[in-house]
Amino acid sequence: MSTIQSYITKHKDRFINELIELLKIPSVSADSNYKNAVLKTAEAVKISLENAGCSSVEICQTKGHPIVYGEKIIHPHLPTVLVYGHYDVQPPDPLDLWHSPPFEPVIKTSVKYPEGAIFARGASDDKGQMYMHVKAMEYMTANDQLPCNVKFMIEGEEEIGSPSLSVFVKNNRKKLKNDIILISDTGMIANTTPSITTGLRGLSYVEVEVTGPNRDLHSGLYGGAVANPINILSKMIASLHDANNHITIPGFYDKVEELSEIERAEMAKAPFDLEDYKKALNIDAVYGEAGYSTHERTSIRPTLDVNGIWGGYTGEGAKTVIASKAFAKISMRLVPHQDWEEITQLFTDYFKSIAPKGIKVNVIPHHGGQGYVTPLDHIGYQAASKAYQKTFGKTPIPQRSGGSIPIVSLFEKELQSKTILMGFGLDSNAIHSPNEHFGIWNYLKGIETIPFFYKYFTELSQ
Ligand code: BES
Ligand code: MN
Ligand code: MN
Repeated sequence: MSTIQSYITKHKDRFINELIELLKIPSVSADSNYKNAVLKTAEAVKISLENAGCSSVEICQTKGHPIVYGEKIIHPHLPTVLVYGHYDVQPPDPLDLWHSPPFEPVIKTSVKYPEGAIFARGASDDKGQMYMHVKAMEYMTANDQLPCNVKFMIEGEEEIGSPSLSVFVKNNRKKLKNDIILISDTGMIANTTPSITTGLRGLSYVEVEVTGPNRDLHSGLYGGAVANPINILSKMIASLHDANNHITIPGFYDKVEELSEIERAEMAKAPFDLEDYKKALNIDAVYGEAGYSTHERTSIRPTLDVNGIWGGYTGEGAKTVIASKAFAKISMRLVPHQDWEEITQLFTDYFKSIAPKGIKVNVIPHHGGQGYVTPLDHIGYQAASKAYQKTFGKTPIPQRSGGSIPIVSLFEKELQSKTILMGFGLDSNAIHSPNEHFGIWNYLKGIETIPFFYKYFTELSQ
């Protein structure tokens, strides 16, 4: 029997190389051109779970990309941990901003990463973090250290809103029965300040289409006499925030929970350096809702952001034209108690109501999900906290994140289980951006910490 530390030391290079092989497969779920690569990734994940000691692993076909499911049941009376992760990745564009190709992983060392960081799309979100669980499983089964039952459910559609997984979960409640769900798909404050994610924001994602005249028009012959969809769309979007950066949609804040001053003071204790934050983004000021700190704006407050906007002529040179249509994609991040379907409806009604005559508005809802909060008195949280104390030598700070994993609230509803979010990434990992990376130290620390979660969770369950 070896300890997890000695096992990592011995197998470190292989652990890194296996992850690099997985990162080479471009599993972009949003783009159908990558369909085969997504499938190939599912097959690679399946093999890795078999090699890690799962006794039955299957590729579950869906209407979309497949779900990889594997398990090892050692005794029906022992607790069961369900590990969730995703093997799909965000599209890598804009490609020209990458310093090395997104699907040709490279390891670079720097002052921040003396042990090196792997640069590739999916390195942190979520292949690298998902694979920590596979390697932790390998350690536990190879060294007779697995204290409980394990189920793995690794999907290929997280980045497009998990459309097939929600059906799969509803149809497989018994198969997925568990005592706790464990996910590494978030971040922590810093390598010297471990934290556990205790909340995720909900999400409503919509696309809007604004139509004016029935065809593109000469901007001289018609300009000034008809509503220009791009001008109008810009105005409508601008009016969604007031001078204090509050969202103007009627009813939007009705269910938002206001934290007490004590809770806000507790939150403000988490280490955060505004100067470093600005420096890292090369901005000279932050911007947001009046009356709230940066940390509050990205965790306990809801937001509305345009993610993309287009229309008219964007090619080389100039073309004098009034476009017939203008479009935008808009995301709203929600906080606990806000219902994403209700918010989508409020947005739709309001957005239609502010359009002037002569303009038609179409709102297409994409995907969404509810927010999530982990209670700190849950044994799953306590087990995770003990695991971090063991491997980081520090008590982790509970912290709500601004990101969303909509399927987590569905797990709670359909499977009646809580989720523990043990993220080992950093905000600076550039997930969804060019040059995404994941520190090798973080990767190995995750592998080291996970088996302790299993140990303490099993102990606390008895
Ligand atoms: N892993 C992220 C979410 C995340 C990252 C949460 C960091 C907390 C900290 C996940 O893959 C993701 O990108 N989610 C999407 C939503 C999804 C429906 C496309 C998001 O948050 O934009
Ligand atoms: Mn993710
Ligand atoms: Mn993501």
